[in-house]
Amino acid sequence: MSDAQIFADRMLSLGLARVSEQAAIAAAKLIGCGDEKSADQAAVDAMRRQLNLLDIQGVVVIGEGERDEAPMLYIGEEVGSGNGPAVDIALDPLEGTTLTAKDMPNALAVIAMGPRGSMLHAPDVYMDKLAIGPGYPTDLVSLDMNPTERIETLAKAKGSRPEGVMVCVLERPRHQDLIAEIRATGARIRLITDGDVAGVIHCAEAAKTGIDMYMGSGGAPEGVLAAAALKCMGGQMWGRLIFRNDDERSRARKAGIDDHDRIYRRDDMVTQDVIFAATGVTDGSIVKGARRDGDWLETETILMRSKSGSVRRLLYRQRNQ
Ligand code: FBP
Repeated sequence: MSDAQIFADRMLSLGLARVSEQAAIAAAKLIGCGDEKSADQAAVDAMRRQLNLLDIQGVVVIGEGERDEAPMLYIGEEVGSGNGPAVDIALDPLEGTTLTAKDMPNALAVIAMGPRGSMLHAPDVYMDKLAIGPGYPTDLVSLDMNPTERIETLAKAKGSRPEGVMVCVLERPRHQDLIAEIRATGARIRLITDGDVAGVIHCAEAAKTGIDMYMGSGGAPEGVLAAAALKCMGGQMWGRLIFRNDDERSRARKAGIDDHDRIYRRDDMVTQDVIFAATGVTDGSIVKGARRDGDWLETETILMRSKSGSVRRLLYRQRNQ
């Protein structure tokens, strides 16, 4: 990349922060209102409006759903002004609709951008996920290990006992056995009710969040977004798509995925350098939530570029309209 291209890339990243900021502000107006749909719609509208102002030739590869089920920001939708670089966009305008409706922590507006072909076109199915933070040997743990082996291996690498390992897991009935097995090792569990993008990101800042490992199944699109974040922050992640029926298998085929048992490493899900932005909707351990201060609305955004490893934290204030 020439100096001019690097500069343009940085400028584009600032534009991306504006996109997640505006989505978060729109959703934040509905925090605690118990209306998941309206909060999500507000975030989608705002994100799309801002995205279309960016000088990019963008295509949504991870979005609100397939064309027939999502009127906006659907997979394949072209976004941006049509000038500028050809990019792929992965987004979740409101990651944590229930968290927002109930005013619970860690709801985020999330977006990642990379060159065309840089991100796995994950269909809207579940993904079995495993993540650890930076600083460990490559492939220290794997999805082929059972949870006990993963915890014992990580504990050893950390120089601790399993009791010193904190695992983040989505609280779901399907995770009952997983939770029981983790507890039997002595490791501790941070249960979250939603929002596994934040759950995975927590591993990259273990000293701050206390979370060493993420385990369990959640949305595959969220898995790719989390992989994009870890590519910027460091840390390893693995994901395997879970298919419950033929419809889900045919969604995968449509997305160009034929090997249904494949384990994707972080860099298989995100193959080139990306820019990642997330703005807090409700308060969380990664960023503060959007908040009202008199006539003003304030947000905090984490903005990262994997190419440089740079991490910016942007505080933004705008008059409440
Ligand atoms: P939404 O923001 O779309 O509500 O998703 C929240 C979420 O918790 C994701 O973070 C996670 O990947 C997925 O839902 C888990 O799905 P399920 O609720 O079906 O277990």
